[in-house]
Amino acid sequence: MINQQFAQDVLDGLSSTPKTLSSKYFYNKKGDALFQQIMALDEYYLTRAEYAIFDRYKKDWLTLFQNTGKPFQLIEFGAGDCYKTKVLLDAFTETKSDFQYVPIDISKNILEVLEADLTERYPNLDIQPVNNDYFKALEELDKNTTHRKVILFLGSNIGNFTDEQAIAFLSEVKQRLSKDDLILIGVDLKKKPETILAAYNDKKGVTRDFNLNVLHRINDELGGDFQVENFMHSPIYDPLTGEARSYLVTTKAQTVRIDALEQSFEFEAWEAIHTEISRKYSLNQLEDLAEKAGFAETKHFFDEQKYFVDTIWRR
Ligand code: AVI
Repeated sequence: MINQQFAQDVLDGLSSTPKTLSSKYFYNKKGDALFQQIMALDEYYLTRAEYAIFDRYKKDWLTLFQNTGKPFQLIEFGAGDCYKTKVLLDAFTETKSDFQYVPIDISKNILEVLEADLTERYPNLDIQPVNNDYFKALEELDKNTTHRKVILFLGSNIGNFTDEQAIAFLSEVKQRLSKDDLILIGVDLKKKPETILAAYNDKKGVTRDFNLNVLHRINDELGGDFQVENFMHSPIYDPLTGEARSYLVTTKAQTVRIDALEQSFEFEAWEAIHTEISRKYSLNQLEDLAEKAGFAETKHFFDEQKYFVDTIWRR
């Protein structure tokens, strides 16, 4: 069965100038596996930096999360394998804290694997997985809880949004939070441009394959005939905007047919498809984002190198 939203987005993206394909389509089974490999790469400092922050502040955060005297719900947007969150779950279950873990993911498969893994690792943990999109999941929770909500939006996922999308997304989250609720956001910071660019252009070529995976998906799911070997992964980093941008650049002129769209698309030699933004923030820009999204209180937690920040906001 054809994913109509995917088909429509590909049609819109390849019909526009410049051509675009959304990085949200990187993530199928193969893309998930490639992203796991990326997180373990030497060049991809983000995951290690955020892990270090979690390890450094897990006790302070527990104190903070409990300071209303109410039990809390640790709600993770896009939980994945919850590699970093396990640092918190280890610490919080050890002290027998009164909390619930609520992983939210649109992938049922990921949630099932996660629940099995966590149940084995933490037999006494109260896990309430929600298989839905983030906002619908938050609404579902609203009806059933008196817990303080602590939302986790980790891994610099916010960086994959444009400015407008980030403001809109966080404003919408804010509207669904009560006075004492918190959101903890993992944000990659501006740093030496070479370090950032290398994270999106690793020597082993895993990020290249991750980017090219969107073309394989179009071939497999929409009957495309992209000759993937005619495209190269081409990332850039602009220290002014803080945007790492990934492109797929065609090395020769070609016509690509996509059966499900009943259409062909012309590519000039060296034409680029924009596929991903991975935005890096300065602290001022981050404060600005908080203000525009309507959050009054912010508190920042850094790793030793100040490569990354986990920032906790209250409305
Ligand atoms: C998921 N996201 C935060 C990653 C990032 O760094 O933007 C995705 C990624 N793209 C290339 N490498 C990793």
